[in-house]
Amino acid sequence: AQTTVDIDLKNTAADPVISKYIYSHFAEHLGRGIYDGFYVGDTSKIPNTNGVRNDVVAALKKMKIPSLRWPGGCFADTYHWKDGVGPKDKRPAIVNKWWGGVVEDNSFGTHDFLNLCELLGAEPYVAGNVGSGTVQELADWVQYTGSDNKNPMSDLRKANGRDKPWNVKFWGVGNEAWGCGGNMTPEYYANEFRKYSTFMGSSEGKTKIFRVASGASDDDYNWTETLMKNIPQHLIEGVAVHHYAVIEWNHKGPATGFSDEQYFTTMQRTLQMDSLVTKHARIMDKYDPKKKIALVVDEWGGWYDVEKGTNPGFLYQQNTMRDAMIAGTTLNIFNNHADRVRMANLAQCINVLQAVILTKESKMILTPTYYVMEMYNVHQDATMLPTRVSNTDYSFGKDKLPAVSASASKDKDGVVHVSLTNIDPAKKQTITLNLDGQSFKNVSGTILTSAKTGDCNTFASPDKVKEAVFKGVVVKGNKVEVTLPAISVVVLALK
Ligand code: AHR
Repeated sequence: AQTTVDIDLKNTAADPVISKYIYSHFAEHLGRGIYDGFYVGDTSKIPNTNGVRNDVVAALKKMKIPSLRWPGGCFADTYHWKDGVGPKDKRPAIVNKWWGGVVEDNSFGTHDFLNLCELLGAEPYVAGNVGSGTVQELADWVQYTGSDNKNPMSDLRKANGRDKPWNVKFWGVGNEAWGCGGNMTPEYYANEFRKYSTFMGSSEGKTKIFRVASGASDDDYNWTETLMKNIPQHLIEGVAVHHYAVIEWNHKGPATGFSDEQYFTTMQRTLQMDSLVTKHARIMDKYDPKKKIALVVDEWGGWYDVEKGTNPGFLYQQNTMRDAMIAGTTLNIFNNHADRVRMANLAQCINVLQAVILTKESKMILTPTYYVMEMYNVHQDATMLPTRVSNTDYSFGKDKLPAVSASASKDKDGVVHVSLTNIDPAKKQTITLNLDGQSFKNVSGTILTSAKTGDCNTFASPDKVKEAVFKGVVVKGNKVEVTLPAISVVVLALK
């Protein structure tokens, strides 16, 4: 049977806004993410602004990056922010113990990051150190970045050359507290969170801070339940969860040259995000029926073996059409759960895991994932429209998955955008969009597709996979017929 997608255009007050922060990113002090990715230093021949690559900034602005999480990840719970402020030649060097054991010279610190966010027009999301830091240290960081009053931290910031505060809104209270963030139990972490959050709250800044609790790994529902039960709601604005589309932690498989079975399994792991988000949200509903607290998926994406010849601790991997399918499908899931998922951060932005940008000396390439993020930016802060997909199967052996995923929104100008993915690597899908009886005169679209799941952009061939004008759409009265090629992501604009 043909796939149909019903879009509910009635637009009731119950339809949530798709927070633009669902389209956020993550940059850790890991491998070539910061150094050699964002930051080349102001003496580099590569065109830069205060050491940050201009080409990278322009590409991320074009993609409409709404927020960037930093400095980790696992690194965050080893990071002492005062090491990274003041004259660069006086900053202490440390060993990056989680990621390759390399020297971290602290040349990229708080000012560099927050100024970068200003350049990008993106909201910073700073992850604090709970694992090996102190309450005072994190409270000081909030004051340093957010206070305009007379106090030691504000004075220190001014002495370091920044007069006005940056007013950071988003703060992570540790990271993966169940693992690299301190191997804590949920009960113990909930108590730690209460303490940290109490003192961070007195920021004296103009911005009311948004505190995100370090969340569950995948389906650890007990973690979410314990946090929701034990943390008073006036102390918390968000609860995190992390889920990677990884085949098996000990056998991740290559980023390119993977088998059909590995592709299928990656799609299975990707689609798990839907049940994870549904079940974590259901637990949150029990304690917070008005949905005041956000579910923040602050790490997600594909994770494979590193590229041959690269440092295993640097997590450098290529990015293919498989990653484009992870991105399109996952972003549809987030859009459809916009009532509770109000921030998500793809891991990670440049040269690490599922990156949107890869760099090599002065060269930069945009990955298939970049194009999906750019195509989907039309959903940022638009009103979500509920969709129902009657699906066709993508089968592999005895197993099957739904081939098509969809999400839709209406922007402030009344334009309806529909994003569709077809993860089937061999079969095209002909889809009828039922539009609640409404008709649209002007329907246009963009597409990202390529012949093989493993197709990617390389420094020798940077434009192999690129978004293009979509021609597979026909308006038939008050219905729209769409032909999605195998492995494709399409975004339509209906006017
Ligand atoms: O994104 C890489 C790592 O994955 C992060 O540092 C950590 O939080 C997670 O385990």
